[in-house]
Amino acid sequence: MKIIYLLVPLLAIYFLDGCRSSYDRTESRETASRYFSDPKIERRVDSLMSQMTLDEKIGQLVLYSSHFTTTGPTLPKNVEEAIRNGTCGNIFNAHVPAYNRELQRIAVEETRMGIPLLFGYDVIHGMKTIFPINLGMSCSWDIEGIKNSARVAAREAIAAGLNWTFSPMVDVTRDPRWGRVSEGSGEDTYLGSLIAAAMVEGYQGEGPETLASDSTILACIKHFAAYGAPQAGRDYQTVDLSDRTLRETYLPPYKAGIDAGAGSVMSAFNDIDAIPATASRYLMTDILRKEWGFNGFVVTDFTAINELVPHGVAADSLEAGALALNAGINMDLQGDIYHRFLKQLVEQKRVFLKQVDKMCAGVLRIKFALGLFDDPYRYLDTTAVAREFYKPENLAAARDMARKSIVLLKNDNRTLPIATGRKIALIGPFANTRIDLLGSWYGQGDSSHVVSILQGMQERFGHNKVIYAQGAPYEQESRIGFSQALHAARNSDITVVAVGLPGSWSGEATSMTTITLPLIQQELIAAIRTTGKPLVLLLLNGRPLDLSWESTVSDAIVEAWYPGTEGGHAVADVLSGDFNPCGKLTMTFPRTLGQVPIHYDIKNTGRPFTPNVGEQHYVSRYIDLPDNTPLYPFGYGLSYTTFAYSDLRIVPDKSDMKQPIEITVTVRNSGERSGTEVVQLYIQDVVASVTRPLRQLKGFERVELAPGESREISFQLDAESISFYRQDMSYGYEPGQFKVWVGGSSTADLEGIFEVTR
Ligand code: BGC
Repeated sequence: MKIIYLLVPLLAIYFLDGCRSSYDRTESRETASRYFSDPKIERRVDSLMSQMTLDEKIGQLVLYSSHFTTTGPTLPKNVEEAIRNGTCGNIFNAHVPAYNRELQRIAVEETRMGIPLLFGYDVIHGMKTIFPINLGMSCSWDIEGIKNSARVAAREAIAAGLNWTFSPMVDVTRDPRWGRVSEGSGEDTYLGSLIAAAMVEGYQGEGPETLASDSTILACIKHFAAYGAPQAGRDYQTVDLSDRTLRETYLPPYKAGIDAGAGSVMSAFNDIDAIPATASRYLMTDILRKEWGFNGFVVTDFTAINELVPHGVAADSLEAGALALNAGINMDLQGDIYHRFLKQLVEQKRVFLKQVDKMCAGVLRIKFALGLFDDPYRYLDTTAVAREFYKPENLAAARDMARKSIVLLKNDNRTLPIATGRKIALIGPFANTRIDLLGSWYGQGDSSHVVSILQGMQERFGHNKVIYAQGAPYEQESRIGFSQALHAARNSDITVVAVGLPGSWSGEATSMTTITLPLIQQELIAAIRTTGKPLVLLLLNGRPLDLSWESTVSDAIVEAWYPGTEGGHAVADVLSGDFNPCGKLTMTFPRTLGQVPIHYDIKNTGRPFTPNVGEQHYVSRYIDLPDNTPLYPFGYGLSYTTFAYSDLRIVPDKSDMKQPIEITVTVRNSGERSGTEVVQLYIQDVVASVTRPLRQLKGFERVELAPGESREISFQLDAESISFYRQDMSYGYEPGQFKVWVGGSSTADLEGIFEVTR
């Protein structure tokens, strides 16, 4: 009888709720932990730790910058001595093999335990051969290409004596005021997760054992968590998200990187739900270790433990150290808190020795997995620089990624491509710069190796066909160069104006309150426009811009981002048509900054309601902006050819999701040139227990088609792809109708529907 009393309410909940399915995803633990749970390694870690003193254990939790940089509050004057006396077990910003080799020798030969050092560095989009900025590369939607860029970066980094990169940055970013959008993969969680995994595999190799191979380095997933959502786009600012948004939108790329095997994670500077990430047990232990099974190590961002004091959650450095260690932070980057206070904290019983041991084991485990104990010098071949830096295949890969990253935003009257033989006026503050093409965080990229736009255009079109005039500086109100630029324009068939923002305006601490081009550049464009010559805007920038005015005065707009070492070649490839552009935006370009934060996967409101205007209709709007759509939406980008979509089929169109649903579409190259289209699949869960986005990206494929050629493209939607955090925060799907769109951007209009049954 008692059982029936229990069963009836349970069954009632099940049926009345009506929305639970049989599918519930249990968070996958084994995926992440399978990488670093080798019993042999664990035995070696245990045996080593049983011989270590507390001081030696603390030394493993310390990361100092080398003499190559002088930032940081308490840099030891003598790094060699700090290594020798065991207070420093890891070094960053050292990237000369002979120097690193000497430091490693000291660690291995002159310390009691002989534990090798990690050598970390910010290798973000290349070490020597610089690829486009990460936001640019994401616009290629070329997952293999992105993975390969990380492979190339790893090999060049190894040649420089490194075994650890502070990359990939996988923060979802939705606010172009934030300067670090340039380092991420844009606004979408699904695409961002694929890129996170690809970059980890590029750096570390694929599979548990590859980290120990000669061509791989340790990756670091950063900045955990939600660093990409600072209020008002101000770097380091407060982040305040619901747990649902955190888990659904922001966490998946970190998890994808960890599931791909990333051995380290960097804690973010920001607070989130009022707790600084670096002091958050919820993030560092409950989610990262317990839910996701991560058993590598967490390093702080630069002095992030010290910053717990100004955050106002620690009275002093001592308390800050205790908070961080107890939260689950293994390694103190340049803060010197662990070195100065951890022993005292153990003595005062404010942290347990057991927790110190756990944190130390995390670091040692990864050093074993890297193979450093077996051969501490294997990354330190002083002859590798000559072989690896700027290898022809590295440059070819960078050029290929740069041209795939370029997004053609506008091309009226087939202004582009530019036919050989035409006279081109190449104007603008970025036409002949080199350093700006590298963007931010460009490793040890050397600007003298950068192919400028002018150089690339002259090589492709001929020196006598390209007339260069700077026209104006990038910011300063000086019109002195206008007359020369006008002269060049009048004597040409077509004008290409290279405008944008300098590379140093992107990256850390570069938040901006405007996203328009500086006034002088707009004045230059207006002046060139008066010549009546076809006007191509070539943009170099690291964030979405407000191009509302520019889009009305130019004939074509090419978004080149910061394209890296081979930028000038890549731009010439695209402008000449030698390469047909295929990049698609991964961050929305608004019409005005007032729309920010803006992203494609918005939800309906309940109002206003005006009949017959379509789905956008429930989206609230501004009285001073008639159309609250973006200027250029997520997923958008033109080609020199056109693509037509037809025959959308959904099989089965009613399913209990035991088997995946197959969505098939025919894509045809309806133009006259070969081209690559990024075919994109979006869905909407029409009615659910919580409000759902109007569209969400669930699949894509890059397809190359000859003129007139058609191809059937199929996508599989499984239970995971329609799942979300339901009203009670359980994860799974709910039965009901789902809309589907397939096309070349997030505004695709070929629509279908399927039903999920219980
Ligand atoms: C940045 C990190 C970087 C670290 C080490 C910090 O200021 O936020 O992204 O990896 O410095 O250079």
